[in-house]
Amino acid sequence: MSPYRITRTLPEDVTGAALRADVAAGLTGEPKTLPPKWFYDARGSDLFEEITALPEYYPTRAEREILLARAGEVAAASGARTLVELGSGSSAKTRHLLDALGGLDTYVPVDVSESALTGAAGQLLAERPGLTVHALVADFTAPLALPASPGPRLVAFLGGTVGNLLPPERAAFLASVRALLAPGDSLLLGTDLVKEEATLVAAYDDAAGVTAEFNRNVLRVINRELGADFDPGAFAHVARWDREREWIEMRLRARHAQTVKVTALDLVVDFRAGEELRTEVSAKFRRAGVRDELAAAGLELAEWWTDAAGRFALSLSRA
Ligand code: SAH
Ligand code: AVI
Repeated sequence: MSPYRITRTLPEDVTGAALRADVAAGLTGEPKTLPPKWFYDARGSDLFEEITALPEYYPTRAEREILLARAGEVAAASGARTLVELGSGSSAKTRHLLDALGGLDTYVPVDVSESALTGAAGQLLAERPGLTVHALVADFTAPLALPASPGPRLVAFLGGTVGNLLPPERAAFLASVRALLAPGDSLLLGTDLVKEEATLVAAYDDAAGVTAEFNRNVLRVINRELGADFDPGAFAHVARWDREREWIEMRLRARHAQTVKVTALDLVVDFRAGEELRTEVSAKFRRAGVRDELAAAGLELAEWWTDAAGRFALSLSRA
């Protein structure tokens, strides 16, 4: 068997249909919203990688610190022979896990971004010729058909991406992850933690404006894929901390009143001056909340590790 295989569970037409449905619903609702998974075309994936190196964006560095300190414990506790990674992106931090997982047979990166998967897998295969890599182009919020591979399985969901799901989506997602786990399998979950507002807002509104470009990228995706005529420059980047719901909200604020056509949907959308389109939530967590959300999905928190500054947590749980 070839050590590398890529499976698309998102044929082009299905992706297009999902984008059309999300854009039609999101731009005709009040308030207007779009799901964050549409940020990640090739340019969006590159912009996210740039974000991870920004001085203000601490989550990637904090999670790497934990992985470097704890990968050996994760390996010992999970005994994983298959690592499934949801929203794997560049797989950059995953290397620390791969280094520690001595008995690993198969790595299954799962992402909607085919460009990110291809780039990551190419590099990994060159570095680890003995590893079987089976990449899945798939939406992790839909039912996943994982390839046959030896257990135990470790499912990793890093970066705090779970916080980009709204609470009901998160509950459904965790229940679906639970359903993937056989006895002896485990879940490694990265969660960004609640902290002071200034630190949080700066992480989502960097001085170099990379996050602003990442935010506007969703408009470029809609222009290209659905023949829309958004002028990205006519929207200002907004990052706001919602103290009650404990999440950062990214929005695009119309700089002036404007009308946008979305040709593929035969849709005309009016924006009032100052009207805001929500493009992402990024929830921040506390230990008790993570424990309770896991428990509600039938998962028991076994380990909780944070970086030295207490900014980010990795948890290990089992069915
Ligand atoms: N895990 C990496 C990347 C995080 S960025 C890290 O920690 O740095 C979030 C990643 O999740 C992106 O690569 C994006 O393409 C992917 N993603 C977002 N929504 C997704 C979805 N619904 N299904 C599959 N992948 C998704
Ligand atoms: C992928 N995800 C965890 C990032 C986050 O921090 O919520 C996406 C991101 N949005 C703006 N900057 C980074």
